[in-house]
Amino acid sequence: MSANDKYTTERITSIHTWVPGKLFSFRCTRDAGYRFVAGQFARLGVRSPDSPDIVWRAYSMVSSPYDEHLEFFSIVVEGGLFTSTLERLRVGDPVFVDKTAHGFLTTDRFAHGVTQRRHLWMLSSGTGLAPFLSILGDLHVWEEYDRLVLVHSVRSAAELAYVDTIAGLATHPVFGEFCRERPGKLTYVPVVTREAVPGMLDRRLTTLLDDGGLEQHVGLALEPADNCVMLCGNPEMVSDLRKRLQERGFRAPRRGQPGNLAVENYW
Ligand SMILES: Cc1cc2nc3c(=O)[nH]c(=O)nc-3n(C[C@H](O)[C@H](O)[C@H](O)COP(=O)(O)OP(=O)(O)OC[C@H]3O[C@@H](n4cnc5c(N)ncnc54)[C@H](O)[C@@H]3O)c2cc1C
Ligand SMILES: NC(=O)c1ccc[n+]([C@@H]2O[C@H](COP(=O)([O-])OP(=O)(O)OC[C@H]3O[C@@H](n4cnc5c(N)ncnc54)[C@H](OP(=O)(O)O)[C@@H]3O)[C@@H](O)[C@H]2O)c1
Repeated sequence: MSANDKYTTERITSIHTWVPGKLFSFRCTRDAGYRFVAGQFARLGVRSPDSPDIVWRAYSMVSSPYDEHLEFFSIVVEGGLFTSTLERLRVGDPVFVDKTAHGFLTTDRFAHGVTQRRHLWMLSSGTGLAPFLSILGDLHVWEEYDRLVLVHSVRSAAELAYVDTIAGLATHPVFGEFCRERPGKLTYVPVVTREAVPGMLDRRLTTLLDDGGLEQHVGLALEPADNCVMLCGNPEMVSDLRKRLQERGFRAPRRGQPGNLAVENYW
């Protein structure tokens, strides 16, 4: 198979900076043949002056499978080979997209039509928010789950990206109807851990699980019988939360058996 059979060349169409030098999002064109399930990640490639070969990294889709474009949300790692190149790209520049999407952070791994699994919790840190925005762009989750809980933990309030997009779901032409029919359908919980923001949760998610603060804030008990949980972001956070959830009886899907816990580490 030649290189061109493996990836397509897309062009950047817009860039949005959230925190200069730290966090940004970009959109690019999407090949008509590119398919993915909400929650999956792409393999993106860039040409870096510091590497003879194209540099490839995994990136979760922010955009939904129905969108004509692809959107990604990126950190800038100081000295990072990929992100220091990506950060310098401008509208019109190429970015390579491997033709195959990957990943198992998808709701199809949970039992379908099992009515007691009524709530979907999406717990993220930093750029780990990305796949959950894609999932919230998927009509299926709005139909399948009684309540959707999106939690985003960041160090400082400036890193709370996509706040307006999330707030806009309540008046979205399709998803807004679910919010009107079912008050509290989507609960967004921003958590800021290194800055005091009045009215906002300020403890790590691990602490908020241990002391019951998260459940109290959301008004739901996080029990395996009627909840599914997805974790994404910092690997230590994912591991620490997974341990706690497993102690409560949550299980990852295995050998075709649907579970109620799905995780993804970013590094
Ligand atoms: C399945 C998967 C999906 C991913 N999706 C995204 C995404 O949507 N957005 C995104 O920005 N990154 C994502 N990443 C991370 C991404 O693949 C790269 O690691 C990131 O672009 C940094 O690349 P780099 O070459 O600049 O630095 P690297 O050499 O790859 O990383 C250097 C160090 O930077 C830190 N780091 C890397 N990525 C992050 C991050 N996202 N947030 C905080 N610290 C980080 C870690 O300490 C890491 O050891 C994902 C990773 C995986 C495995
Ligand atoms: N954010 C910045 O301003 C900044 C500045 C310089 C360098 N960096 C580098 O950028 C990288 C990523 O930074 P980031 O801010 O996106 O991601 P991060 O360090 O993963 O922090 C994101 C959120 O996850 C929380 N968290 C981290 N580990 C956790 C755990 N084990 N259990 C529960 N919660 C946990 C953090 O809480 P805590 O705040 O309590 O850790 C924070 O709320 C780091 O490797 C860092 O070295 C970041």
